[in-house]
Amino acid sequence: MAIGALRLCQLLPPGLALLGRLRFESPRLKQRLLGLSFPNPLGLAAGFDKNGEAIPALAALGFGFLEVGTVTPRAQPGNPRPRVFRYPETESLENALGFNNRGAESLARRLSRLRRGGVPLGVNLGKNRDTPLAAAEKDYELLVETLDGLCDYWVINVSSPNTPGLRDLQSGERLADLLRRIGARTDLPVLVKLSPDLEPGEAVGLGRAAVEAGAAGLVLTNTTIDYSLLPGAPGGGAERQGPAPAQLRSPQGGGVGAVRRLLADQRGRDRLGRRGLP
Ligand SMILES: Cc1cc2nc3c(=O)[nH]c(=O)nc-3n(C[C@H](O)[C@H](O)[C@H](O)COP(=O)(O)O)c2cc1C
Repeated sequence: MAIGALRLCQLLPPGLALLGRLRFESPRLKQRLLGLSFPNPLGLAAGFDKNGEAIPALAALGFGFLEVGTVTPRAQPGNPRPRVFRYPETESLENALGFNNRGAESLARRLSRLRRGGVPLGVNLGKNRDTPLAAAEKDYELLVETLDGLCDYWVINVSSPNTPGLRDLQSGERLADLLRRIGARTDLPVLVKLSPDLEPGEAVGLGRAAVEAGAAGLVLTNTTIDYSLLPGAPGGGAERQGPAPAQLRSPQGGGVGAVRRLLADQRGRDRLGRRGLP
Protein backbone atom coordinates (compact mmCIF):
# COMPACT_ATOMS: atom_id res chain seq x y z
CA MET A 1 0.00 0.00 0.00
CA ALA A 2 2.81 2.41 0.91
CA ILE A 3 4.58 1.63 -2.36
CA GLY A 4 1.29 2.23 -4.22
CA ALA A 5 0.88 5.68 -2.62
CA LEU A 6 4.47 6.62 -3.43
CA ARG A 7 4.00 5.50 -7.03
CA LEU A 8 0.92 7.69 -7.28
CA CYS A 9 3.00 10.68 -6.13
CA GLN A 10 5.48 9.90 -8.90
CA LEU A 11 2.74 9.93 -11.53
CA LEU A 12 1.29 13.31 -10.58
CA PRO A 13 3.69 16.20 -11.21
CA PRO A 14 2.98 18.06 -7.92
CA GLY A 15 3.30 14.80 -5.99
CA LEU A 16 7.09 14.72 -5.86
CA ALA A 17 7.27 18.43 -5.03
CA LEU A 18 4.87 17.83 -2.16
CA LEU A 19 6.98 14.97 -0.79
CA GLY A 20 10.09 17.12 -1.21
CA ARG A 21 8.67 19.65 1.24
CA LEU A 22 9.32 17.13 4.01
CA ARG A 23 13.00 16.96 3.15
CA PHE A 24 15.68 18.49 5.36
CA GLU A 25 19.05 19.29 3.86
CA SER A 26 22.23 20.47 5.52
CA PRO A 27 25.85 20.51 4.36
CA ARG A 28 26.77 19.12 7.77
CA LEU A 29 25.00 15.86 6.95
CA LYS A 30 26.80 15.31 3.65
CA GLN A 31 29.63 12.84 3.31
CA ARG A 32 31.63 11.07 0.64
CA LEU A 33 31.97 7.32 0.96
CA LEU A 34 32.67 4.54 -1.56
CA GLY A 35 33.39 7.29 -4.09
CA LEU A 36 29.76 8.45 -3.80
CA SER A 37 28.17 11.60 -2.37
CA PHE A 38 25.62 10.94 0.36
CA PRO A 39 23.35 13.92 1.21
CA ASN A 40 22.73 12.50 4.69
CA PRO A 41 23.43 9.27 6.61
CA LEU A 42 19.83 8.02 6.88
CA GLY A 43 19.12 5.45 4.19
CA LEU A 44 16.34 3.02 3.37
CA ALA A 45 17.21 -0.63 4.02
CA ALA A 46 16.47 -3.47 1.62
CA GLY A 47 13.05 -5.08 1.74
CA PHE A 48 10.78 -2.03 1.47
CA ASP A 49 11.10 -1.34 -2.25
CA LYS A 50 11.97 -4.81 -3.46
CA ASN A 51 11.24 -4.08 -7.12
CA GLY A 52 12.57 -0.52 -7.34
CA GLU A 53 9.12 0.93 -7.96
CA ALA A 54 9.25 4.06 -5.81
CA ILE A 55 12.81 5.36 -6.17
CA PRO A 56 12.03 8.97 -7.19
CA ALA A 57 9.41 9.31 -4.44
CA LEU A 58 11.67 7.82 -1.77
CA ALA A 59 14.52 10.11 -2.85
CA ALA A 60 12.15 13.09 -2.73
CA LEU A 61 11.21 12.14 0.84
CA GLY A 62 14.81 12.84 1.83
CA PHE A 63 16.54 9.49 2.28
CA GLY A 64 20.31 9.81 2.00
CA PHE A 65 20.58 6.55 0.06
CA LEU A 66 18.26 3.80 -1.11
CA GLU A 67 18.74 0.06 -1.26
CA VAL A 68 16.30 -1.80 -3.49
CA GLY A 69 15.77 -5.57 -3.49
CA THR A 70 16.46 -8.19 -2.48
CA VAL A 71 16.31 -9.14 -6.13
CA THR A 72 16.80 -12.71 -7.33
CA PRO A 73 17.64 -13.73 -10.91
CA ARG A 74 14.15 -15.09 -11.58
CA ALA A 75 10.85 -13.73 -10.26
CA GLN A 76 9.48 -15.66 -7.29
CA PRO A 77 6.35 -15.34 -5.12
CA GLY A 78 7.96 -15.65 -1.67
CA ASN A 79 6.42 -17.54 1.24
CA PRO A 80 2.66 -18.05 1.60
CA ARG A 81 0.74 -15.42 3.60
CA PRO A 82 0.61 -14.48 6.40
CA ARG A 83 4.32 -13.76 6.33
CA VAL A 84 4.76 -10.61 8.42
CA PHE A 85 3.92 -10.80 12.12
CA ARG A 86 3.70 -7.93 14.62
CA TYR A 87 4.68 -8.15 18.31
CA PRO A 88 3.57 -4.72 19.58
CA GLU A 89 4.48 -5.48 23.19
CA THR A 90 8.16 -5.67 22.25
CA GLU A 91 7.96 -3.09 19.43
CA SER A 92 9.13 -5.82 17.08
CA LEU A 93 8.00 -7.62 14.00
CA GLU A 94 8.89 -10.73 12.16
CA ASN A 95 9.50 -10.83 8.45
CA ALA A 96 9.08 -14.12 6.66
CA LEU A 97 8.49 -12.72 3.17
CA GLY A 98 11.06 -14.98 1.48
CA PHE A 99 12.43 -12.70 -1.27
CA ASN A 100 9.16 -12.08 -3.10
CA ASN A 101 10.23 -10.07 -6.15
CA ARG A 102 9.78 -9.71 -9.91
CA GLY A 103 13.28 -10.78 -10.85
CA ALA A 104 16.40 -9.18 -12.29
CA GLU A 105 15.16 -8.46 -15.83
CA SER A 106 12.16 -6.57 -14.52
CA LEU A 107 14.31 -4.52 -12.12
CA ALA A 108 16.82 -3.81 -14.91
CA ARG A 109 14.03 -2.47 -17.15
CA ARG A 110 12.77 -0.25 -14.37
CA LEU A 111 16.20 1.08 -13.38
CA SER A 112 17.18 1.77 -16.98
CA ARG A 113 14.18 4.12 -17.30
CA LEU A 114 15.27 6.16 -14.27
CA ARG A 115 17.05 9.46 -14.57
CA ARG A 116 20.30 8.90 -12.63
CA GLY A 117 22.09 11.42 -10.49
CA GLY A 118 19.83 11.25 -7.44
CA VAL A 119 20.82 9.74 -4.10
CA PRO A 120 23.17 6.74 -4.11
CA LEU A 121 21.30 3.62 -5.13
CA GLY A 122 22.25 0.14 -3.99
CA VAL A 123 20.89 -3.16 -5.24
CA ASN A 124 20.63 -5.99 -2.74
CA LEU A 125 21.29 -9.39 -4.34
CA GLY A 126 20.02 -12.82 -3.29
CA LYS A 127 19.67 -16.28 -4.70
CA ASN A 128 16.43 -17.87 -5.86
CA ARG A 129 14.89 -20.23 -3.34
CA ASP A 130 15.04 -23.17 -5.76
CA THR A 131 18.66 -22.60 -6.81
CA PRO A 132 20.70 -25.35 -5.15
CA LEU A 133 23.14 -23.96 -2.61
CA ALA A 134 26.03 -25.48 -4.57
CA ALA A 135 25.11 -23.22 -7.51
CA ALA A 136 24.33 -20.09 -5.46
CA GLU A 137 27.34 -18.18 -6.78
CA LYS A 138 25.96 -18.42 -10.32
CA ASP A 139 22.83 -16.53 -9.23
CA TYR A 140 24.90 -13.63 -7.89
CA GLU A 141 27.03 -13.55 -11.04
CA LEU A 142 23.94 -13.47 -13.22
CA LEU A 143 22.43 -10.66 -11.16
CA VAL A 144 25.54 -8.50 -11.50
CA GLU A 145 25.73 -9.15 -15.23
CA THR A 146 22.06 -8.21 -15.68
CA LEU A 147 22.09 -5.09 -13.51
CA ASP A 148 25.62 -3.70 -13.89
CA GLY A 149 25.71 0.03 -14.64
CA LEU A 150 22.17 0.56 -13.34
CA CYS A 151 23.03 1.27 -9.68
CA ASP A 152 25.85 2.74 -7.57
CA TYR A 153 26.75 -0.17 -5.32
CA TRP A 154 25.90 -3.79 -4.61
CA VAL A 155 24.93 -5.50 -1.39
CA ILE A 156 25.49 -9.23 -1.30
CA ASN A 157 22.82 -10.65 0.93
CA VAL A 158 24.03 -13.85 2.58
CA SER A 159 22.15 -13.27 5.82
CA SER A 160 18.37 -13.39 5.27
CA PRO A 161 16.86 -16.16 7.37
CA ASN A 162 13.97 -16.76 4.96
CA THR A 163 15.81 -18.58 2.18
CA PRO A 164 16.86 -22.02 3.37
CA GLY A 165 20.64 -22.43 3.40
CA LEU A 166 21.42 -18.84 2.40
CA ARG A 167 23.31 -18.19 5.61
CA ASP A 168 25.63 -21.10 4.78
CA LEU A 169 27.31 -18.66 2.38
CA GLN A 170 28.55 -16.83 5.46
CA SER A 171 31.78 -18.81 5.51
CA GLY A 172 35.07 -17.01 4.94
CA GLU A 173 36.14 -19.23 2.07
CA ARG A 174 32.82 -19.20 0.24
CA LEU A 175 32.35 -15.48 0.73
CA ALA A 176 35.84 -14.70 -0.54
CA ASP A 177 35.24 -16.84 -3.62
CA LEU A 178 31.89 -15.11 -4.23
CA LEU A 179 33.46 -11.67 -3.88
CA ARG A 180 36.22 -12.50 -6.33
CA ARG A 181 33.72 -13.76 -8.88
CA ILE A 182 31.60 -10.63 -8.51
CA GLY A 183 34.66 -8.36 -8.53
CA ALA A 184 35.62 -9.83 -11.91
CA ARG A 185 32.26 -8.68 -13.34
CA THR A 186 31.82 -5.18 -11.96
CA ASP A 187 33.72 -2.05 -10.98
CA LEU A 188 31.05 -0.91 -8.54
CA PRO A 189 31.64 -1.13 -4.77
CA VAL A 190 30.42 -4.37 -3.23
CA LEU A 191 29.16 -4.55 0.36
CA VAL A 192 28.30 -7.68 2.31
CA LYS A 193 25.22 -7.83 4.53
CA LEU A 194 25.77 -10.00 7.59
CA SER A 195 23.52 -11.63 10.14
CA PRO A 196 23.30 -10.44 13.76
CA ASP A 197 23.27 -14.08 14.90
CA LEU A 198 26.96 -14.77 14.27
CA GLU A 199 29.28 -15.35 17.18
CA PRO A 200 31.55 -12.33 17.77
CA GLY A 201 34.72 -14.07 16.58
CA GLU A 202 32.95 -15.44 13.54
CA ALA A 203 31.60 -12.00 12.62
CA VAL A 204 35.01 -10.35 12.85
CA GLY A 205 36.62 -13.18 10.86
CA LEU A 206 33.98 -12.92 8.15
CA GLY A 207 34.25 -9.15 7.98
CA ARG A 208 38.00 -9.44 7.63
CA ALA A 209 37.74 -12.15 4.96
CA ALA A 210 35.21 -10.06 3.03
CA VAL A 211 37.34 -6.91 3.08
CA GLU A 212 40.47 -8.86 2.12
CA ALA A 213 38.60 -10.40 -0.81
CA GLY A 214 37.60 -6.99 -2.13
CA ALA A 215 34.44 -5.94 -0.27
CA ALA A 216 34.18 -2.18 0.09
CA GLY A 217 32.29 -2.53 3.36
CA LEU A 218 29.70 -4.35 5.44
CA VAL A 219 25.99 -3.75 5.96
CA LEU A 220 25.14 -4.50 9.61
CA THR A 221 22.77 -6.20 10.13
CA ASN A 222 19.97 -8.33 8.74
CA THR A 223 17.11 -9.74 10.84
CA THR A 224 17.70 -12.06 13.76
CA ILE A 225 16.40 -15.55 14.41
CA ASP A 226 17.08 -15.18 18.13
CA TYR A 227 13.74 -14.52 19.82
CA SER A 228 15.07 -14.84 23.35
CA LEU A 229 14.02 -11.33 24.36
CA LEU A 230 10.36 -11.85 23.52
CA PRO A 231 8.47 -11.88 26.80
CA GLY A 232 6.27 -14.78 25.64
CA ALA A 233 9.22 -17.06 25.21
CA PRO A 234 9.33 -19.95 27.68
CA GLY A 235 11.94 -19.38 30.34
CA GLY A 236 11.19 -15.69 30.24
CA GLY A 237 12.67 -12.73 28.48
CA ALA A 238 16.30 -11.76 28.47
CA GLU A 239 17.59 -14.81 30.33
CA ARG A 240 16.49 -17.19 27.61
CA GLN A 241 18.84 -17.78 24.70
CA GLY A 242 18.04 -19.61 21.50
CA PRO A 243 15.37 -19.88 18.88
CA ALA A 244 11.76 -18.85 19.22
CA PRO A 245 9.08 -21.22 20.41
CA ALA A 246 6.87 -22.46 17.61
CA GLN A 247 3.87 -20.30 18.51
CA LEU A 248 5.91 -17.12 18.18
CA ARG A 249 7.41 -17.62 14.80
CA SER A 250 6.86 -18.88 11.32
CA PRO A 251 9.13 -21.66 10.06
CA GLN A 252 11.62 -19.22 8.59
CA GLY A 253 11.20 -15.75 9.94
CA GLY A 254 13.55 -13.01 11.00
CA GLY A 255 12.84 -10.53 13.76
CA VAL A 256 13.47 -6.81 13.63
CA GLY A 257 12.81 -3.85 15.85
CA ALA A 258 13.56 -3.38 19.51
CA VAL A 259 14.53 -7.03 20.04
CA ARG A 260 16.87 -7.15 17.09
CA ARG A 261 18.36 -3.75 17.90
CA LEU A 262 19.10 -4.79 21.42
CA LEU A 263 20.79 -7.98 20.27
CA ALA A 264 22.73 -6.33 17.47
CA ASP A 265 23.83 -3.46 19.70
CA GLN A 266 25.10 -5.82 22.38
CA ARG A 267 26.89 -8.02 19.88
CA GLY A 268 28.07 -5.16 17.71
CA ARG A 269 29.82 -3.55 20.64
CA ASP A 270 31.34 -6.88 21.49
CA ARG A 271 32.51 -7.56 17.93
CA LEU A 272 33.67 -4.25 16.68
CA GLY A 273 34.23 -2.19 19.82
CA ARG A 274 36.75 -4.47 21.43
CA ARG A 275 38.35 -6.21 18.50
CA GLY A 276 37.86 -3.80 15.61
CA LEU A 277 37.99 -4.47 11.91
CA PRO A 278 40.97 -3.58 9.73
C1 LIG B 1 9.34 -6.59 6.01
C2 LIG B 1 10.84 -6.69 5.89
C3 LIG B 1 11.41 -7.12 4.70
C4 LIG B 1 12.79 -7.21 4.58
N1 LIG B 1 13.33 -7.65 3.41
C5 LIG B 1 14.67 -7.69 3.27
C6 LIG B 1 15.25 -8.10 2.06
O1 LIG B 1 14.57 -8.39 1.07
N2 LIG B 1 16.61 -8.14 1.98
C7 LIG B 1 17.42 -7.80 3.03
O2 LIG B 1 18.64 -7.83 2.90
N3 LIG B 1 16.89 -7.39 4.20
C8 LIG B 1 15.55 -7.33 4.34
N4 LIG B 1 15.01 -6.92 5.53
C9 LIG B 1 15.93 -6.53 6.62
C10 LIG B 1 16.15 -5.03 6.64
O3 LIG B 1 16.76 -4.59 5.44
C11 LIG B 1 17.06 -4.63 7.81
O4 LIG B 1 18.32 -5.22 7.67
C12 LIG B 1 16.46 -5.06 9.12
O5 LIG B 1 15.13 -4.62 9.22
C13 LIG B 1 17.26 -4.51 10.31
O6 LIG B 1 17.27 -3.13 10.28
P1 LIG B 1 16.59 -2.26 11.45
O7 LIG B 1 17.49 -2.40 12.62
O8 LIG B 1 16.55 -0.87 10.91
O9 LIG B 1 15.23 -2.85 11.65
C14 LIG B 1 13.62 -6.85 5.67
C15 LIG B 1 13.04 -6.40 6.86
C16 LIG B 1 11.67 -6.32 6.97
C17 LIG B 1 11.07 -5.83 8.26
